[in-house]
Amino acid sequence: MGWLEDNVAIITGGGSGLGRALVERFLDEGAKVGVLERSAEKLEKLRVDFGDQIVTIEGDVTKFEDNVSVVRETVRKFGRLDTFVGNAAIWDFSTKLVDIPADRLDALFDEMFHVNVKGYLNGAKAAVEELARTGGSIVFTVSNAGFYAGGGGPLYTASKHAVVGLIKELAFEFGPKIRVNGVAPGGMATDLRGPVSIGLGGSSVSTLPLAEILKEWTVLQELAEPADYTGHYVLFASKKNSRTATGAIINCDGGMGVRGLVEVAGGNDL
Ligand SMILES: NC(=O)c1ccc[n+]([C@@H]2O[C@H](COP(=O)([O-])OP(=O)(O)OC[C@H]3O[C@@H](n4cnc5c(N)ncnc54)[C@H](O)[C@@H]3O)[C@@H](O)[C@H]2O)c1
Repeated sequence: MGWLEDNVAIITGGGSGLGRALVERFLDEGAKVGVLERSAEKLEKLRVDFGDQIVTIEGDVTKFEDNVSVVRETVRKFGRLDTFVGNAAIWDFSTKLVDIPADRLDALFDEMFHVNVKGYLNGAKAAVEELARTGGSIVFTVSNAGFYAGGGGPLYTASKHAVVGLIKELAFEFGPKIRVNGVAPGGMATDLRGPVSIGLGGSSVSTLPLAEILKEWTVLQELAEPADYTGHYVLFASKKNSRTATGAIINCDGGMGVRGLVEVAGGNDL
């Protein structure tokens, strides 16, 4: 018996990386899943792999009506909605402010904040009535960049700090019926893309030497797989197992917050 029997969940950006791992894990735990995703190709692969266990909507999280569609179609097919996972995002490839061309700053700001922040707001607004009906919950993907500098440039880091604010504010506004929590993972070799506005829409984070970087940056000294983070979402989605958690965020980034002021890699004999 899984932790999410009878749970119906929506996952945005469920086509690859962490979102795809969440689709698989939620299904394994007994949930039914709706996915909002902009890539038709990734959605087709999901349909081939999971058939009628899922509902797929091709759309853009920045468009409110696409969020409404995934809520409507998921409830139409599975009868209810218990969990909304806001997860789709883009990364700024750690582009420093001094390196952002002045004439691209407006467009870059809008793109980053529209996808990473407005996307989650849209999802929460589209899902709130159905979640209130079931006493459900929201889980937003944050990032180490929601807490620490250096995991992105100023726009990604600011957008993920904004997500921390959203979690707190919505937990406050949506209680007592709906819990709102977050999961803040660290690095993963996924298809996480850059902003189109600075010509990085086709670039993916997996081209970076992430295993080396994470060995230096984290106490656990390893690059996690997307699946390694999914248990934290299952915990928050499970009414039985996290009834008292709202406004909470799990930092599961391999220990960046306790890495200290000395070199981590090679710094001990364990
Ligand atoms: N990869 C990392 O190192 C890392 C680290 C910390 C946090 N995160 C966070 O994890 C989450 C998932 O990212 P990932 O690494 O799995 O990347 P990913 O690109 O593999 O997955 C994101 C999915 O969202 C989709 N998407 C992007 N923009 C969209 C839009 N406007 N509308 C609809 N769908 C859209 C993409 O097509 C993709 O399938 C993000 O919130 C990201 O910030 C990633």
